[in-house]
Amino acid sequence: MTDPVTLMKQEVGKAAAALVESGMIVGLGTGSTTAYAIQYIGDRLNSGDLKNIVGVPTSFGAEVLAKQYGIPLTTLDAIDHIDIAIDGADEVDPRKNLIKGGGAAHTREKVVDYLANRFVVVVDAGKLVDHLGSVFPVPVEVIPMAITPVMNVIRELGGEPQLRMGVRKAGPVITDQGNMVVDVKFNSIPDPVELEKTLNNLPGVLENGIFVNCADIVLIGEVVDGQPVVRKM
Ligand code: A5P
Repeated sequence: MTDPVTLMKQEVGKAAAALVESGMIVGLGTGSTTAYAIQYIGDRLNSGDLKNIVGVPTSFGAEVLAKQYGIPLTTLDAIDHIDIAIDGADEVDPRKNLIKGGGAAHTREKVVDYLANRFVVVVDAGKLVDHLGSVFPVPVEVIPMAITPVMNVIRELGGEPQLRMGVRKAGPVITDQGNMVVDVKFNSIPDPVELEKTLNNLPGVLENGIFVNCADIVLIGEVVDGQPVVRKM
């Protein structure tokens, strides 16, 4: 039997894939929830329900999945807009501010998601929080030679930085850009707009996982009376 979290991810992925229309340029996000959206977009293309769409992947992972499901891909050099982007999140607050980067892909995700005319976030209900940073640390992509000074300054800012280590890979996680990720736990994040700017201003930081004023629609997967349902925030 499929577990409830997987069911929620599948339903919300399907709901997001249903928003894609023929002829659209589609930002393809990263993560286990978006993977279902990519799969359903591929299914709609292969069945003839969708035509002439092209995807812009946010990671090597998204690129591999898109190829697997037969979605043609393009790059930002070849297009002048993105109609819709579909992407997951690790936390969503009531203002639709997000923490992303659980898959270390937040740098490319931020480029693609901010460019999209419509950015659709797909999450299960467990990702909703009253305040960003309640559960999830803020991922910060840092160039390797700056790891130590960046971690020191982050401690001075009141954060607890931890270098993200690989799973089934010795040593730190290396991003698609060849950098490292520091996960930073803050006691509270009273002003996500300010923290996003402050972190990105540290020399050696490429990008952090706070996304503000960016999400247009948040689709939330829930299980109600044993049935998966999707609601819009
Ligand atoms: C990738 O770096 C992340 O931003 C993901 O979009 C985020 O971690 C959500 O992933 P899941 O859908 O797997 O929870």
